Amino acid sequence: MSLIAEADPQSIARAAVLLREGKLVAFPTETVYGLGGDATADNAVAAIYEAKGRPHFNPLIIHVTEPAALGELIEWNDTARHLAAQFWPGPLTLVLPRAKHCPVSLLAGAGFPTLAVRIPSHPIARALLKEAGVPVAAPSANVSGRLSPTTPLHVAESLGDKVAMILAGGKSQVGLESTVVDLTSSPPRILRPGGVTKEQLEKSLNMKIETARVESDGNTALPAPGMLAKHYAPRLPLRMNADSADAGEALLAFGPDETVKGGAMRLNLSEKGDATEAAANLFAMLRELDRSDLTGIAVMKIPETGLGAAINDRLRRASLRD
Ligand code: TXA
Ligand code: MG
Repeated sequence: MSLIAEADPQSIARAAVLLREGKLVAFPTETVYGLGGDATADNAVAAIYEAKGRPHFNPLIIHVTEPAALGELIEWNDTARHLAAQFWPGPLTLVLPRAKHCPVSLLAGAGFPTLAVRIPSHPIARALLKEAGVPVAAPSANVSGRLSPTTPLHVAESLGDKVAMILAGGKSQVGLESTVVDLTSSPPRILRPGGVTKEQLEKSLNMKIETARVESDGNTALPAPGMLAKHYAPRLPLRMNADSADAGEALLAFGPDETVKGGAMRLNLSEKGDATEAAANLFAMLRELDRSDLTGIAVMKIPETGLGAAINDRLRRASLRD
């Protein structure tokens, strides 16, 4: 049986059995592909950290299909109920206090008294979670610190020998990870910009909210568990806000690119300058440009509004030096 299986009722059922057996299954979500394991099984969770080479202090997101399934995992509050009603299922992750008798492996939460939870909207993810019947810990299905996968082939390239199965469901629609919001502080804080924009959250909550910033020197104390500075990185050096590209560099353009000169190879995130389209293309195009015959990747300026904030967050981290 091949590692990559097109999602259908049979392959989803097989993937659900593998999850219940404590094995790892990669599956599509609307944001990026996830590396799933039974969140209540210490061995499965340990295997996730192992497969990704992920530091154990960086906690995982727990995925379920219905808010009702979260009752025994986290402690709800009014803000969480409000955001859940508006944005779930969808690309939003809520950080809440862990419930007293929460069955999720302590390792999955990296020992923190909080838990990050999400209800994805992708029909294949939902079918798999429903059939598995357990909460599923699922980080992005990539080696820690590297580009997130938005196709089954991306997963096979980086974790092909580490997963029992890759459920294939085409290209991830959003292309960037979920927005992580910390609801244990008041007002809430965005820990990671993502598929739900800050503008959408502020409108929904009718208040201003802060985004925890990554400091460019990479040495500043982390504002929250697991907020690793250097991340989402191609192998080549990456620089932002480029208004020209060197002869050996790749140019990642945004909008009409005639104004930027140079570059040995060019791709355009969105010729019409649309941040949603750019987000969907970001990781796949960075992978394509990450070639050993080039010297670096120069990325044109991307406006900070809407999904642009999440794109710039990923680019900023990718541009930090080791
Ligand atoms: O879109 C997504 O969220 C994807 C798909 C597969 O659902 N998953 C994903 O997981 O991006 P991962 O592990 O790559 O990123 C999880 C982020 C990390 O930045 C982690 O530090 C943060 O969520 N996180 C997890 N638990 C947390 C907690 N208790 N407190 C604060 N941050 C937490
Ligand atoms: Mg990740």
